[in-house]
Amino acid sequence: MDVRRIFPALDRQIYGKPLIYFDNAATAQRPQAVLDLQQRLCVEACGNVHRAVHKLGADATDYYEAGREAARSYLHAPARENIVITSGTTASINLAATCFCQRFVRKGDRILISEAEHHSNIVPWQLACERHGATLEVLPVDELGEIAVESLDQRLRKAEGRIKLVAITHISNVLGVVNPVEEVIAVAHKYDVPVLLDGAQGIVHEQVDVQALDCDFYAFSGHKVYAPTGVGILYGKKRWLEAMPPYMGGGEMIESVSFEKTTYAPLPLKFEAGTPNFVAAACLAPALETARLLAEDPALQENQRTMRDYLLEELPRIEGLRIYGLPRDPARKIPLISFAVEGAFPSDLAQILDKMGIAVRTGHMCAEPLLHRYGQTSLLRASLAPYNTLAECESFVTALHRAVQMLR
Ligand code: ALA
Repeated sequence: MDVRRIFPALDRQIYGKPLIYFDNAATAQRPQAVLDLQQRLCVEACGNVHRAVHKLGADATDYYEAGREAARSYLHAPARENIVITSGTTASINLAATCFCQRFVRKGDRILISEAEHHSNIVPWQLACERHGATLEVLPVDELGEIAVESLDQRLRKAEGRIKLVAITHISNVLGVVNPVEEVIAVAHKYDVPVLLDGAQGIVHEQVDVQALDCDFYAFSGHKVYAPTGVGILYGKKRWLEAMPPYMGGGEMIESVSFEKTTYAPLPLKFEAGTPNFVAAACLAPALETARLLAEDPALQENQRTMRDYLLEELPRIEGLRIYGLPRDPARKIPLISFAVEGAFPSDLAQILDKMGIAVRTGHMCAEPLLHRYGQTSLLRASLAPYNTLAECESFVTALHRAVQMLR
């Protein structure tokens, strides 16, 4: 497959240099099929969804629901009712945290997360805990970036039912380590504790089957998996979604409204107040189809492993460079590499690299507690996609050597 032809943005020149886009964990580039549908819907089906009888509204609704069906099928969720369309992972987790805790969490209860979480899987739980007099507990990560899953059983047993939910990232956006989520879910379920997986990175790098995983919630964003920004998914088991109160009120999330009493629409619309970003939601269909084609191409998958191994071997040749996230089983590392270089600020390095046409991310990467655990305030991250090449990795390593030399 000529994958680079599918993504027109990859042809760009940045400051006269060919773009090397290594910030895919922040946002991926969009394939032509997504760009085409986005434009076509803005012209041909710009009507509001689930409201109008006119043709534009009906077509918009069909495309919107096709986006939901694509997400259902990609996650292998049992039914449409399990798939709530949101604006992104952050919105999905806020919805789950707010509504789950309102229904199931009381004073003295606890929510368990890991030390490797993105702020979007920390702060919504903190807010909900504050509202209900609950506390947040944290499962540590070790030096290599692996969570202490062996302590989970004991922790849940000792909590004697006070831990109401475990929320954990499928793959850390900083460490690039695939967490043993199957094990986490099995242990948590032994104690009847539901598990939410933050799948912002997991959806891109793993074949997610929510029924096989048996997770209770799975959250992801469209824009990391080739769709536009402004759309995300919250998968939830029906038993939880049905029991949870609505999140926002208004629009089509109702069944009937009176000043005395309002009743709510059936799932999933109960959680979809207001006009959604239906163009972005519709684009989940071509985006996830692209993701499927890329994941099923053995050459592209092999190339991802080759690029990862090349960077893991070459980067440490730079004196004073330390990589964060090196799991005991190397297969659990995705091609996402965060590192610090002694004597060179990540933001300075990133600015020099940008002038060479190379896009990387720096900063706390929305995971301040994790960076503090390693005594860092900022790292530099290269996150790769199936459309990146080994030649780009070689150029990146050469450019990084030069940038480090310039700063020392
Ligand atoms: N969470 C995104 C990242 O890791 C924005 O870059």
